[in-house]
Amino acid sequence: EKQGFKHFMLKEIYEQPGVVRACLEAYFPNSAEIPVTLGLPADFYADLEQIQIVACGTSWHAALVGKYLLEQLAGIPTQVQYGSEFRYAPTPLTANTLTIGVTQSGETADTLAALGMEKERRQGKEFKYEARLLGITNRPESTLGQMVDNIINTHGGIEIGVAATKTFIAQLMAFYGLALDLAYRRQAITQDRLTEIITGLRQLPADIEAILETQEKYIEQLVHDFVETKDFIFVGRGINFPIALEGALKLKEISYIHAEGYPAGEMKHGPIALLDSKVPVVAIAMPGNVYEKVISNSQEAKARDSRLIGVTSVNDGEAAEIFNDLIPVADVEEILSPILTVIPLQLLAYHIAARKGLDVDQPRNLAKSVTVE
Ligand code: M6R
Repeated sequence: EKQGFKHFMLKEIYEQPGVVRACLEAYFPNSAEIPVTLGLPADFYADLEQIQIVACGTSWHAALVGKYLLEQLAGIPTQVQYGSEFRYAPTPLTANTLTIGVTQSGETADTLAALGMEKERRQGKEFKYEARLLGITNRPESTLGQMVDNIINTHGGIEIGVAATKTFIAQLMAFYGLALDLAYRRQAITQDRLTEIITGLRQLPADIEAILETQEKYIEQLVHDFVETKDFIFVGRGINFPIALEGALKLKEISYIHAEGYPAGEMKHGPIALLDSKVPVVAIAMPGNVYEKVISNSQEAKARDSRLIGVTSVNDGEAAEIFNDLIPVADVEEILSPILTVIPLQLLAYHIAARKGLDVDQPRNLAKSVTVE
């Protein structure tokens, strides 16, 4: 039931604060001795030297955020592969490696094939090459669930809209849980820092609610200008680069507008040639490590007459001057920001598609689970 919402996608966008709360409750039990509980056995990942993640689509974007967290918080080298690529060109076998499959449905053929291949090629090897597989899924009862011994359940609830929204947020939460659990067990993080991050995570549901309450109407108005737009560029850096990819994918999927996501620093290596007054640029510019860089990349876009839409928590004169349109989100530390910065991008894609009168929940050519190769 849509419960008064025009589309399932919008309902699911609005369910995200609740999903984050459910994940917080499941993964972070509020105890100093056991700060994170994912239900995974300690010997499962104590001696890890590397992680490889396979996924497709939006789940692949969540995996890219996951890579950032696993490397920056837990210090474990991590690579992310498309299921469809990995299955035909797998990474050479390495010892003490965890392979993670991320799939909300647990039924995506390419992701399952990649995991199945990994399981098979590691079996029968000496102990150090043993298959260590972890699934991150919204459907523990799925084929993925039957294939692997260890699962992180993402607690998103059933998602009907073909465009993944709340299950993406839930996958991000699973990666915060995993990265923090690993960091804690490997003593890669201080107790204070761990507490600080978990406290920050607990604030996010209210921050998402604030975006929904204060920005949805604004975005609904804003999209009047973009119904005829043919191309969009999304840029971000660091942990927000995958969010730029996700914003572009959402727009492509449901509004059929051509959109690309780039790490902002790459624009000058080619894509900037596309820019003119007809190509808006959405820049994710959160304070932190790369804020100044994103701002200077945005200035370069503005100099090519692109209309600039900023998703940022900075509300100073500089930001107001650079961005033609500014969508504010709460001022959280950079490492937590993807949970907030993706929300305006979901709303932007939704409202453009809805305004164009498109079938938001069942976009053309797409299926909710891609069970064929
Ligand atoms: O069920 P999965 O997470 O494995 O699905 C992977 C992709 O097919 C999926 O994320 C697709 O990209 C969505 N329609 C994105 O909105």
